[in-house]
Amino acid sequence: MRRELIVAIDGPSGAGKSTLSKLLARALNYTNIDTGAMYRCIALAASRRDIDPADEESLGRLGRSVRIEFLRSNGGERVLLDGEDVSAAIRTPEISLLTSRVSACLAVREAMVELQRRMGEKGGVVLEGRDIGTVVFPGAEAKFFLVASAKERGRRRYEELCAKGHDVDLAQTVSEVEARDAADSAREHAPLVQAPDAVAIDSTVMTIDEVLAVMLEVVRKRRSRAGFSENDGGERP
Ligand code: DC
Repeated sequence: MRRELIVAIDGPSGAGKSTLSKLLARALNYTNIDTGAMYRCIALAASRRDIDPADEESLGRLGRSVRIEFLRSNGGERVLLDGEDVSAAIRTPEISLLTSRVSACLAVREAMVELQRRMGEKGGVVLEGRDIGTVVFPGAEAKFFLVASAKERGRRRYEELCAKGHDVDLAQTVSEVEARDAADSAREHAPLVQAPDAVAIDSTVMTIDEVLAVMLEVVRKRRSRAGFSENDGGERP
């Protein structure tokens, strides 16, 4: 029997999922799994191999053949694609747009979902993405749906890209966020929707600490509801 929870954090890009899932995982001593990074790896590999994003068969084959690993080091979390550190390469605006297309491919989704289930089945994990609470782990004990206004999410993404030295335009970044939202919500396979049993949190005017406090409280209640005592591991003293 599992002794620790599966925590799902879903929502659109820029709502704070990455920051919150890292902090939540750290507070609970759980493993953090960034599923968006996995789809980004497939997009990067496809672009390097010149695979047409409409070629579902080749994309599926690629999804089943690449090796994706997360490495936790002192310098933060690194993403390895076939052993190469691609943490920065998967975050460019071009790869973000391509990922939106590649992640709509059913064969790619099937390969990633299988991998995510293997990574998380033992519990003690926080998975962040778009379909964790609906498709990957519909039985997750704690589910969150994190949202924020498109304007605020675009502003956050803009600041993030500027800090990394990218030459970007605020209005264009907001419209890219909106375009990706529309594509992620309208796609046929695993569209972005809130699970009926997810706790919705709007982070537009909340601080990171405030959102984290809400999440920790929900997780604490779910742990005791699931019969996991506070002393079974998990939360650090
Ligand atoms: O969270 P992110 O911005 O790194 O996600 C990149 C893309 O991958 C985004 O277009 C949505 C898609 N994605 C998905 O379809 N399913 C997931 N579980 C995670 C991300």
